[in-house]
Amino acid sequence: MTFTPAPWPRKLRSQEWFGGTGRDQIYHRGWMKNQGIPHDMFDGRPVIAILNTWSELTPCNAHLADLAQRVRAGIYEAGGLPVEVPAFSASESGFRPTAMMFRNLAAMSIEEQMRGLPMDGAVLLAGCDKTTPSLLMAAASTDLPSIMVSGGPMLNGYFRGERVGSGTHLWKFSEAVKAGEMTQAEFMEAEASMSRSPGSCNTMGTASTMASMAEALGMALSGNAAIPAVDSRRRVMAHLSGRRIVQMVKDDLKPSDILTKQAFENAIRTNAAIGGSTNAVIHLLALAGRVGVDVTLDDWDRCGRGVPTIVNLMPSGKYLMEEFFYAGGLPVVLARLQEAGLLHGDALTVSGGPIRDELHDVVNHNPDVILPVEQALTQEGGIAVLRGNLAPRGAVLKPSAATPALLRHRGRAVVFEDIDDYKARINDPDLDVDETCILVLKMCGPSGYPGMAEVGNMGLPPKVLKKGVTDMVRISDARMSGTAYGTVVLHASPEAAAGGPLAVVRNGDMIELDVPARRLHLDIPDEELQARLAAWVPPADKPASGYAWLHMKHVQGADTGADLDFLRGCRGAPVGRDSH
Ligand code: FES
Repeated sequence: MTFTPAPWPRKLRSQEWFGGTGRDQIYHRGWMKNQGIPHDMFDGRPVIAILNTWSELTPCNAHLADLAQRVRAGIYEAGGLPVEVPAFSASESGFRPTAMMFRNLAAMSIEEQMRGLPMDGAVLLAGCDKTTPSLLMAAASTDLPSIMVSGGPMLNGYFRGERVGSGTHLWKFSEAVKAGEMTQAEFMEAEASMSRSPGSCNTMGTASTMASMAEALGMALSGNAAIPAVDSRRRVMAHLSGRRIVQMVKDDLKPSDILTKQAFENAIRTNAAIGGSTNAVIHLLALAGRVGVDVTLDDWDRCGRGVPTIVNLMPSGKYLMEEFFYAGGLPVVLARLQEAGLLHGDALTVSGGPIRDELHDVVNHNPDVILPVEQALTQEGGIAVLRGNLAPRGAVLKPSAATPALLRHRGRAVVFEDIDDYKARINDPDLDVDETCILVLKMCGPSGYPGMAEVGNMGLPPKVLKKGVTDMVRISDARMSGTAYGTVVLHASPEAAAGGPLAVVRNGDMIELDVPARRLHLDIPDEELQARLAAWVPPADKPASGYAWLHMKHVQGADTGADLDFLRGCRGAPVGRDSH
């Protein structure tokens, strides 16, 4: 795709506020000057917002205040006026009931900041899981020129000489404690090794996946995804991105120019190659909905088929993001996809050129981290989209994180009616369960939880763990942390709270999972299933007010990205009516 830059100079949007000698312009400029900004900075140059999701209660983003200064330097240098704007920060590790419930609120609030404030373009400063999609969704809805700068991952963690991956080892160690293989004191000693530097999760969890998605989509400069947060080259990336956005505004290079169907297909294949998070499915579907590109679950299955997972990172593999960066990072993966004919090389990026131009002279410095295809972690790395009478609108499973022997499995359902039921009974020594059973968890979808928490990789019963078993088939309408692993069927749609078939599964029902055939089947007669569905009584509405109420009323299913129904589509960024 070729891009034709807009003519320059021309009048920019910010001049509606700052250009001219009228009362309103004097009013707007005058207030800005209380920050000591010289008059000539309002001469028509691009006003660039640094939309910063910095927060000390989003620890993965706590270093973004520093990074913003590097962006600021780049914007000044290129002749723009930088303005730092705090943006809603949804912390994965601390936001209750779940950060996912606030992704849409964040996207909505940032969108209105972009629409209502005098900015011509934006640098999207993100880190923790939901901060990346919320910023991208806002940029897509307003279609103002935007560039993503990721905060970068934490350095490797080590505990007693072994690599410790964010999240991944939290699950591993907690199961080891339950299995009696690790003491509580050792677990607490390991705590300090898990997050030993600024940055986001150091596994190929959702944060690293979404940073990779931003780069594969073309919304970030090449190499952005993997540079560790504390590496000086992360600052250089921020600086260069600040420079670049000024030119993007002059050229009028917008998200809608970049976020094409080709770009989404590139991202979906990249997700397969990196062994990326299942959360990317939801976020990219929502993003596509914002920009008006037709991307469906079927695209995820179609594009991901036959793409091997070649990035040997936890939770699917062995290494961490630091090593991925030293090996060459995402450009190596994109180059490999291109060699295999799996990349749309002419997809446009924030550079203004096609993505293929960024892949010359790319070198893999560590073939044990970015593997040769014949040594791939799995030859079928794409997210598998399952359908059947248990998930008529689809469910997903990540093959690279699953146990191969369980990808075809028939088992007896052990049902938990909701997360409280699960927590109350999973540790019960009398629970009627063994490793051949299938754990089923209901009421954890977008409206049911509410917010679709990351509880789909529910921990195994201690009585099973004590036998040395580390995986069982699990099915739910929940999500799973990108740092998690296991044979876990997620996002079952429609969700139980909306009366999907998951709602009527009973203890003792037999369930068939057949990932190669993409099938998820509740083995009861169809008349029986219909009778159960007809008799199903929706749960009473949970008491809710404020945003939780809005979310539960308007959230859509996981199969289309769990966005709010009234936020889909691009609304543009016209200058609003000025009340003064
Ligand atoms: Fe923030 Fe993982 S919890 S990136």
